[in-house]
Amino acid sequence: MGSTADRLLKALSEVIADRGSLDRAEMERLIARHAGSFGAYMILRLLLTAKTAGLEAFDNMFSFAFAKAEYLAPALHPADPVLSIGCGFGQVETWLAGRGHPVTGVDTSPEMLAVARNLARSEGANADNPSFVEVAGTALPFAGGSFGSVLYLSSLHEMADRRASLAEAGRVLIAGGMVLAGEDETTWSRVPLEQEIGEAGFSLRSEQLLPKIFNHGQASPYVVREYVRTEVEPGWA
Ligand SMILES: C[S@@+](CC[C@H](N)C(=O)[O-])C[C@H]1O[C@@H](n2cnc3c(N)ncnc32)[C@H](O)[C@@H]1O
Repeated sequence: MGSTADRLLKALSEVIADRGSLDRAEMERLIARHAGSFGAYMILRLLLTAKTAGLEAFDNMFSFAFAKAEYLAPALHPADPVLSIGCGFGQVETWLAGRGHPVTGVDTSPEMLAVARNLARSEGANADNPSFVEVAGTALPFAGGSFGSVLYLSSLHEMADRRASLAEAGRVLIAGGMVLAGEDETTWSRVPLEQEIGEAGFSLRSEQLLPKIFNHGQASPYVVREYVRTEVEPGWA
């Protein structure tokens, strides 16, 4: 086990000693399985929000970080460029790029993007696909009509100005392009995302209920909603 995992184990044992409710042996198995790919930061960030053990869903959260790309891929046209806003550690983006989709991930966190670039490299990705850009999802440095789809995976709810970002998503999408928004069910019910996406000019086309993940201190299914731009005829607005 590398030094990242050693540091993680030490920090984690402090969390466990403090909380007393997590099963150490199970946590160590989870770490052994996942620390190499994810490092200490994300595991501790999630653990610190834990109110219940929910270990199966916690495990899903990590396996699923890559696996959810498999659920998304059938909705994507293989040749259409994909933009992921709030890409975080870039697992889905790396997975999609590895299957030939041209992918750009943007995020405001340089730490997240550094992990994403390392991950893509360690997974053998091309130097330019996926590409990762440090920029806010509210002011995208891309021309109008540059992307076939925009992903917001567990990111839309974190944005301070969601309306500005959704307007940008509409601008950079081609006509008939789509937004795929994925959040755990508790987030969909807590934050008025559906209303805001609708007000930004997108209509719901389909939704998928995926396995449960652990997030924000609880376990709930991951729900991906697919939206298309509602076309407005020029001159009608
Ligand atoms: C919970 S993480 C989700 C990461 C990844 N998409 C996933 O599914 O695991 C949310 C991400 O959104 C990013 N984020 C928050 N506000 C943002 C903004 N205004 N513009 C771009 N990224 C933002 C955060 O830095 C973080 O990496």
